[in-house]
Amino acid sequence: MSFTYPDLKGRTVLEIGAGEGASTREVAGAIVAAGGGCLIVNDIEDTHFPALRRELTHPSLELGFLRSSAVKLAGLANASVDLVVSNYALRAIEAIQGQAVLALSRFFQVLKPGGMLLIREELPVYMAANPAQRLWADKWSLLRAAQILTGQKPFKQFQPEVLVEILELLGYTDVDYQDELANHASQDWLPSYLEQMARLTQDMEAADKQYFSQKTEEIKGKAEEIGSFEQPYYQVWASKPWRSLE
Ligand SMILES: C[S@@+](CC[C@H](N)C(=O)[O-])C[C@H]1O[C@@H](n2cnc3c(N)ncnc32)[C@H](O)[C@@H]1O
Repeated sequence: MSFTYPDLKGRTVLEIGAGEGASTREVAGAIVAAGGGCLIVNDIEDTHFPALRRELTHPSLELGFLRSSAVKLAGLANASVDLVVSNYALRAIEAIQGQAVLALSRFFQVLKPGGMLLIREELPVYMAANPAQRLWADKWSLLRAAQILTGQKPFKQFQPEVLVEILELLGYTDVDYQDELANHASQDWLPSYLEQMARLTQDMEAADKQYFSQKTEEIKGKAEEIGSFEQPYYQVWASKPWRSLE
């Protein structure tokens, strides 16, 4: 599941919503492999910044950390970034409805003319196209139902064609996307999923708790029987034009 990057030597890359750093490692590795450059690691929480700093420090990588909402990117100068990478972050940013468009607009400002935006997101669950993708859709749907019932902010998923149109409206050019598939073995995702569901349901009323426990057991049974699920996702590329199009 790796991006194909443009030439990153001497470039400044901003990674949005880095979290525990699964994609940050990939981006940092690509910059080092290209001969070195600058990586600004962003997240709204700084919980994982110290560990990432320790892990990623490298003589040819200039590392910066920016704790700020992607909507603001506080303190980051306009036209200062060559590449913005957003890996499964847009769905979290849009947990507060409308924020994804604001963030995409802010990315446009901080990009240099000619800079690029790379986005990776899952397809919306209603686009599950075959039985192998049903388990993926079912587990998400149950999790989100529990998040809604307990008053949390569930992730939002973007249909790629809609995201492409939003990017074009914001002034991005050369907007393109590609569908991809990944397989995830049940033993890799099931334990953390069960933990998440247990956390979400712990304070529910008895009847709701019973319903969600039964549904979670059904997902667990299917996951153990099938052994893996197929996750449909996509990558979007977009550019900031070299010059004003007016
Ligand atoms: C699903 S995780 C993705 C983590 C990582 N990019 C990966 O691929 O594993 C989403 C991340 O976005 C962060 N996030 C949520 N809202 C944000 C916002 N408004 N601005 C910046 N980061 C945000 C969360 O704290 C979380 O670390």
